[in-house]
Amino acid sequence: MISPSTHASHQTPVPEAHGLVDAFGRVHTDLRVSVTDRCNIRCRYCMPLDVTFKPREELLSYAEITRVVSVAAGLGVRSVRLTGGEPLVRRDLQKLVRDLRQIKGIDEVALTTNGLLLGQQARQLAEAGLSRINVSLDSLREETFREIARSDGLAQVLAGLAEAKRVGLQQIRLNAVSIRGLSEADVVPLARFARQEGFHLRFIEFMPLDADRQWSQLHVLSGREVRGMLEEAFGPLKPVAGHDGGQPAADYRYTDGATDAAVSLVGFIDPVTQPFCERCDRLRLTADGQFRNCLFSTEEWDVRHLLRTGGDDAAIVSLIRACVAQKRAAHGIGTPTFERPERAMYQIGG
Ligand code: 5AD
Ligand code: SF4
Repeated sequence: MISPSTHASHQTPVPEAHGLVDAFGRVHTDLRVSVTDRCNIRCRYCMPLDVTFKPREELLSYAEITRVVSVAAGLGVRSVRLTGGEPLVRRDLQKLVRDLRQIKGIDEVALTTNGLLLGQQARQLAEAGLSRINVSLDSLREETFREIARSDGLAQVLAGLAEAKRVGLQQIRLNAVSIRGLSEADVVPLARFARQEGFHLRFIEFMPLDADRQWSQLHVLSGREVRGMLEEAFGPLKPVAGHDGGQPAADYRYTDGATDAAVSLVGFIDPVTQPFCERCDRLRLTADGQFRNCLFSTEEWDVRHLLRTGGDDAAIVSLIRACVAQKRAAHGIGTPTFERPERAMYQIGG
């Protein structure tokens, strides 16, 4: 295992002028790292039911990921989010969290998980220094959960959330994908649950990244519609001024004064109806070692090949810079020229 603290790439801090700025002036400070394409459930907006996973040797090792993140940190990347597939199905994820936390320049290591294995792993993740955690939760109804995830597991996710709270993991967020005809009845109960439990809930519009290619605009339940449902139940929502850096979520505040142990914010990530491309600060690294500059990239930059053929840090820097330089202004969902990427969500990382 490479020791990040002795790695050459962080001996000298790189001046900001050398950060990852694209052709549109966007500065990239956030890296999403998928650690596996495997998952223990089969959400219909992401995976096919019948799936073939990548062979183990095609995935980057933890040492390889740590090396790439070290180089990226030298280029101004400050936060890393671990995703999958389901990241907690990869063995000893806490070891990777610990190593990434030690890289100079990395201020935050976050995790996006479906929560099924959180009950077993929350404590060790917290001890490893995990900064924040997003848990996917689309429904509180067993039958809807099963319909979306094509698996059981709601009780396990709820137990995982409780454990995450118990061990003191800070900043627990819930992500709920909203799909027309499926999610409407869950909107208000999810909001009520999040407020009671003190979780920050965010609704995400369904994106054209499902392996089954069932997506259509007609299935998108927009953030604006969800907001309308919440306002009917809880009264007016007030937009929170200003965006938190590259945060894609627009946050609103409940104004009904029901503050008992409640989180007063609810967020909306509306990539389809309100694209946030102009303030995107993200890059992605797939589990099989491909850099992408967008969820909807149709091009990839193969860092695994570099890593396994003796490429030096300078070569990795050039590759990351090339990826950033080619980033398009916007993903263009809904425009005539939009082209779906070949990969589905589980092969990219949320
Ligand atoms: N559209 C929107 N969100 C999605 N996710 C997975 N697939 C999609 C999709 N097609 C979300 C999951 C999870 C994160 C990894 O991405 O719910 O929160
Ligand atoms: Fe698994 Fe997440 Fe995809 Fe659902 S959305 S199948 S939990 S990787």
